[in-house]
Amino acid sequence: MKNIYTNTNTFAITTPLYYVNDLPHIGSAYTTIAADTVARFQRLQGKSVLMITGTDEHGQKIQRTAQNKGRSPKEHCDSVVTGFESLWQQLNIQYDRFSRTTASNHEKIVKEFFRRVWDRGDIYLSQQQGWYCVSCEEFKEERELLEDKYCAIHTNQKVEWRDEQNYFFRLSRYQEQLQAFYQERPEFIQPESRRNEVLSFVNQGLQDFSISRVNVDWGFQLPIDPNHTIYVWFDALLGYVTALLDPDSEPTLENALSKWWPINLHLIGKDILRFHAVYWPAMLMSADLPMPGGVFGHGFLTKDGKKMGKSLGNTLDPFELIQKYGSDAVRYYFLKEIEFGVDGDFSETRFINVLNADLANDLGNLLNRTLKMAHKYFNGQIPNINGEEVEVTHPLKTIGISLGEEVSQAYTSLAFSKVCEAVLVLVRTCNKYIDETAPWSLYKQGQLEAVAEVLYSVLESVRLAAYLLSPIIPNISNAIYQQLGFSNDFNNKSVIYSSETFAKQISWGALPVNQILGKPQPVFQRLELTETVA
Ligand code: MSP
Repeated sequence: MKNIYTNTNTFAITTPLYYVNDLPHIGSAYTTIAADTVARFQRLQGKSVLMITGTDEHGQKIQRTAQNKGRSPKEHCDSVVTGFESLWQQLNIQYDRFSRTTASNHEKIVKEFFRRVWDRGDIYLSQQQGWYCVSCEEFKEERELLEDKYCAIHTNQKVEWRDEQNYFFRLSRYQEQLQAFYQERPEFIQPESRRNEVLSFVNQGLQDFSISRVNVDWGFQLPIDPNHTIYVWFDALLGYVTALLDPDSEPTLENALSKWWPINLHLIGKDILRFHAVYWPAMLMSADLPMPGGVFGHGFLTKDGKKMGKSLGNTLDPFELIQKYGSDAVRYYFLKEIEFGVDGDFSETRFINVLNADLANDLGNLLNRTLKMAHKYFNGQIPNINGEEVEVTHPLKTIGISLGEEVSQAYTSLAFSKVCEAVLVLVRTCNKYIDETAPWSLYKQGQLEAVAEVLYSVLESVRLAAYLLSPIIPNISNAIYQQLGFSNDFNNKSVIYSSETFAKQISWGALPVNQILGKPQPVFQRLELTETVA
């Protein structure tokens, strides 16, 4: 897979702006964990990073939800937003901007953008007839519906017949330009399967889509017609742009686009691919703005092999999951167990088995037993050998010297599962190496130099593993670094890294000899299966 990023020293990444009809679910947590991991990795490499998340608060769906709860839409949105902020804090998400579509500066950006597209002659008034799903906020083709006019995505919700005047965006005008763009920038839509999906959709011929609604108060009025509100997607996608404004700068498109545009990567779920990979680029073409770096559409999560949903009674509460197992465990499971881009499953038994095997046993015990030996045989110091002098044929160094590069490439192509697998190969080789070299016997035989080499090479490998996994499991990586005698804090966002530090940290042999080691303590407690999380 090609690198989808531009070469500058800045990197901007977005999650979708989540609907606030309900508290955040595991699907929103999944995208946000992935985005945070990418942002952390880019920072580690010395990039100046802007991670954007936020909420999509307008539209009929939210208006109705608030009404049903007997609250004003704004009151409702504010309370749900608190839930999102709290989840991101508990999941250790280091976002830089939280973009709310109800923010005062956002309206100005949306209206200025609308004007540009209007002036281009790409908006016109016409009659819209069709079946509308309020939950999708989208008109549906009759053939897409289930029996009795239920939405195929929101299977417990009937679509509604609409026959009204709407303003339309001339998407059809951009068909050829889009096709040429996908050709020129094959890396724009990832993974490959999603690109193919989009290409076949576009090749079938694009139809204009309506960008205004009547009888919806909860939204921005069209600058050219106060009887209409701007369609949620024409409002929400611009939330990415508003987020780029410095907090006290004038809300103009020019200011918003001056530093961070084009955004390098939009991370989304596969259900909203069309909006990001077709509508959004066409809107930007119309407004004469440069294209983003890329769109990556990940898969859907199921629970115990079944689609998750409230009506099915099998949702997975992210708050409960974190409370029970901690943020690193949750982050690790979803990124390691599910190939990013395809659908994946959550099962609590599998969750516990994976974490116990990888983090408690393979990584945690490895550090623990090696540290204990270093305390016993070397007075709690990192044994004095020169990492650079360890033979390149050494079983751990052989893997360690190329691991940094391999893992960096995997992060760059968002192959988080590969990142974890590659690191685990080193960790497992360490365990085997200790068992085979038996440093406790070497010590008894008085072979101190050999013992020093074994312990140094294992501790250095654990350091490298912790460093490379730090974007995924920052708390565990911190604990490992501390026990190795460092004072790094992978959660401290104000530390400015450089590409030189990165290169040094990923090279095998960076562990300073004679450094005083910390007290051996389990970095990850074994998990037990008790009551399952609902
Ligand atoms: N508000 C729009 C996005 C506007 S972006 C300018 C929206 N919001 S959403 O809250 O409904 O969905 C947000 C994300 O959650 C989507 O990326 C969607 O794919 C993801 N998920 C929802 N359910 C999911 C699963 N079961 N599994 C994985 N992700 C899923 O759409």
